[in-house]
Amino acid sequence: MVIQIAPSILAADFSRLGEEVALMERGGADWIHIDIMDGHYVPNLSFGPMVVKAIRPVTKIPFDVHLMMDNPMEYVDEFIEAGADSITIHAEVLPHLHRSINYLKKKGVGAAVALNPSTPLNFLDYVLQDLDMVLLMTVNPGFGGQSFIPAMLDKIKRLKEMIEALQSKAIIQVDGGISLKNIRQAAEAGASCFVAGSSVFSASDPAAMISQMRKAGEL
Ligand code: DX5
Ligand code: ZN
Repeated sequence: MVIQIAPSILAADFSRLGEEVALMERGGADWIHIDIMDGHYVPNLSFGPMVVKAIRPVTKIPFDVHLMMDNPMEYVDEFIEAGADSITIHAEVLPHLHRSINYLKKKGVGAAVALNPSTPLNFLDYVLQDLDMVLLMTVNPGFGGQSFIPAMLDKIKRLKEMIEALQSKAIIQVDGGISLKNIRQAAEAGASCFVAGSSVFSASDPAAMISQMRKAGEL
């Protein structure tokens, strides 16, 4: 299984954001994970499209934009124009999830749906075939540096079974508290794309941590 590492710049040094992104490229990151928080859907504020646009020229690595917001579809076009390659929308806030996913596909970006820890997998029953990726939150969204919720391992396994049964091409991304300690367990359960904020950026050598995590997750 091909492992992908997506460092979350929420844990980067914002005073040197461009350099931090360039460092992730040197470390071999597969994606740059960009957490967008609106202060409503989650109790925190982070970046807008301007920041995405500002760091776009710094790297060729694709941008994985995770929209933790109440009205994500109102801002999708701006994030795509700013340089997003894949957009993740939360199922909990979208009454017309099927329509929203199709909009992303029509726009030519990767289409991903995120589920909070308490959101059931059956939200995906009728859309899984259309997705490029499912993001299972392994912490409650809003902040970096939280602990991985162990009950999510079973959720990853069950999602993997659903994906296989439907022969969907969707990959499973996990986000929250991912580190060298748990990446292998999450990979064994069926995840293949790993968001990592604090574990990468607080490492003494962040670039080397990316390859250490990749090695630990390879089955
Ligand atoms: C949490 C965000 C995550 C966060 C992960 O709300 O969606 O992407 O940055 O950070 P760590 O890896 O520190 O848990
Ligand atoms: Zn995220």
